[in-house]
Amino acid sequence: MNRVFLLRLVLDCIAAGLLLFAFAYFWQGNASHEWAGISMFLLLVVHNMFHRRWFAALPKQGQGEQRGKFNIALTFMLLAGMLALLGTSLVISETLFADLRLDDDFTARQIHAGIAYWLLVVVAIHLGLRWPLLMGVARRLFGIVEANAARTALLRLIAIGIAGQGVCSVLALNLRSRLLFQMSLDWWNFEESVAGFFGHCMAIMGLCMFLTYYTMQWLKRRKRMDAATNLAARGMGR
Ligand code: HEM
Ligand code: HEM
Repeated sequence: MNRVFLLRLVLDCIAAGLLLFAFAYFWQGNASHEWAGISMFLLLVVHNMFHRRWFAALPKQGQGEQRGKFNIALTFMLLAGMLALLGTSLVISETLFADLRLDDDFTARQIHAGIAYWLLVVVAIHLGLRWPLLMGVARRLFGIVEANAARTALLRLIAIGIAGQGVCSVLALNLRSRLLFQMSLDWWNFEESVAGFFGHCMAIMGLCMFLTYYTMQWLKRRKRMDAATNLAARGMGR
């Protein structure tokens, strides 16, 4: 497998890890939160430099090679969200950019946390859209060549289990109020469990990836069936 591609994936994994770490603000405190966040933004600059051709190809794309409109819209939402998160980070910073801090930063803090939780969902959808690619990489790394019905069934069961846990985790982390930018006082108690918090965050991401991947599969199948029906109807018309 191409080494640059593997390096890209390793950097993507580190960025995802830093994103998750940044949610645990009250675990390690402000300085590590800010360092993790800024490191993730730097990795995302690299990530987008690797994908500069993707952006350059957008205006030139012909009808035949049209990319999914949803993918393009989601990528721009991701870009806008990350820029907004960076902007709010600068004005609420207590360590790295303390000089830029606003006097009354309560609203900026609320927006910062709300955007962050939206990004958890959007990044997961971004990954769900690339799930076939990531599964292909996993298959190659584990040297899997042939299809195996039992393995597929087991992996699907695990995916359903993660999605089910994701629904419970949405409730456990009170995601609804966070996505509605509401201030909440029910902080996670990191003294009780650290793994539990990260488990919930990952399960929520897993749920979003599951829904994205299977919705895409369903849409593809429906498109293929529509095309076959049209072809058959044309054949009967002759
Ligand atoms: C990966 C990027 C980042 C994410 C996902 C993120 C997420 C969050 C979240 C969710 C909170 C609220 C903590 C909670 O309610 O549990 C928070 C708080 C905070 N973040 Fe970030 N953050 C990121 C980057 C940054 C950066 C780069 C800075 C500054 C340079 C920063 C500064 C702060 C500060 C000062 C708070 C405390 C706000 C308060 O006291 O209410 N964050 N962040
Ligand atoms: C922590 C956040 C992110 C993670 C974990 C992540 C992960 C990934 C992965 C795994 C891929 C496929 C493998 C690859 O080509 O590298 C990918 C592709 C891509 N990502 Fe991200 N990404 C993140 C944030 C972003 C952001 C903020 C943007 C900015 C708009 C972005 C833009 C893209 C683009 C344009 C592609 C190529 C899409 C395609 O080929 O259709 N990503 N990302």
